[in-house]
Amino acid sequence: EQSLRTLGQRHGLHIGTAVDLAVLNDPADPRYRQLAASEFSSVTAENAMKWESLEPTRGSYNWGPADELVAFARQNNQSIRGHVLVWHNQLPGWLTSGVADGSISKEELRALLKKHITTVVSRYKGKIWQWDVVNEAVSDPWDNPPTLHYKGFWAQHLGPGYIADAFRWARAADPKALLFYNDYNIEAFGSGDPANDKTQFVYDMARQLRAEGVPIDGIGSQGHLGTQYGNYDTLQVAAALKKFSGLGLATAFTEVDVRSQLTEGVQAGDSAEINPRLQASAANFSVLLRACLADRHCLSFTVWGFTDKHSWVPGWFSDPPEGMATIYDENYLPKRAYHEMKADLIYA
Ligand code: G3I
Repeated sequence: EQSLRTLGQRHGLHIGTAVDLAVLNDPADPRYRQLAASEFSSVTAENAMKWESLEPTRGSYNWGPADELVAFARQNNQSIRGHVLVWHNQLPGWLTSGVADGSISKEELRALLKKHITTVVSRYKGKIWQWDVVNEAVSDPWDNPPTLHYKGFWAQHLGPGYIADAFRWARAADPKALLFYNDYNIEAFGSGDPANDKTQFVYDMARQLRAEGVPIDGIGSQGHLGTQYGNYDTLQVAAALKKFSGLGLATAFTEVDVRSQLTEGVQAGDSAEINPRLQASAANFSVLLRACLADRHCLSFTVWGFTDKHSWVPGWFSDPPEGMATIYDENYLPKRAYHEMKADLIYA
């Protein structure tokens, strides 16, 4: 039986996963390491390359886990998606509190960001295939105000110009890495009110950056979907990819998972209730994967964790509880989504 990575290779498509370094190193959980190596040709650190992980105390770096991921990828002949250089979440406490209490000025903050990007990208120069340079910079229609805008810590303190700066700094530190803007809720185009379409907003941003000569190479579409929202539309997903590639950009699905609400009493294994969810989840994985396979600019398809045993979803969505978002169940048995992905890779 062929692995996802082997089947992906036939199309020149990398099949990737996010990796939790603590689990990868857990001798009591060997299956995780085996599957991370055998099924995937690309890896992303789920948390280990985020700023709070790398520099928990100002000026003292904790490279251990990130270095281990890089070594693991090398051992297993895998590419790496670097995640993430600039994001408003998982920033070190010293940075956010310094800004809040005024001890870090705007000028210093900008210099700190430049230093962070330069330090991290230089350390892994030549080893990272795609860097998520800027992550989730754009608001959603459900935010306040509902008109789409640049949101979060960095826009608030530095203004939206930080985006162009970040790409330039990253390029200077590793000219060969592909530099991505990464976000969620940009998987489809034409699905809602055009004036408030996040895909369109990100497209306009990318077009502007390209026009200014900013070194951006790709758009990462995260792909955190949920079966309660129904099935994504193949044509709308293809349209979103095509919009971005029309700007001369590569694309990638970077964090795919398809969660379900776990109504009371429903547990994995209760086939009558579970099957429709497994089916709906698989269908959405398949819509994204097929759109990627049909578009030569789509370079990789990464799942955000591959087993329900270790997924961010249950910890994040508790009211109502959600889960069952990945392609293997809690016992590392492949789910319908896994088989459907294989079928897509075989028949594409
Ligand atoms: O490391 C501590 C541990 O020491 C402590 O005991 C434990 C108790 O809560 O928390 C651990 O930290 C958690 C960390 O994951 C590592 O497991 C944090 O609480 C938790 O908030 C953090 O969640 C991560 C989340 O980003 C936070 O922003 C998820 O694992 C990670 O999957 C998720 O990933 C993001 C992408 O980077 C960007 N796109 C969205 C995606 C999903 O939110």
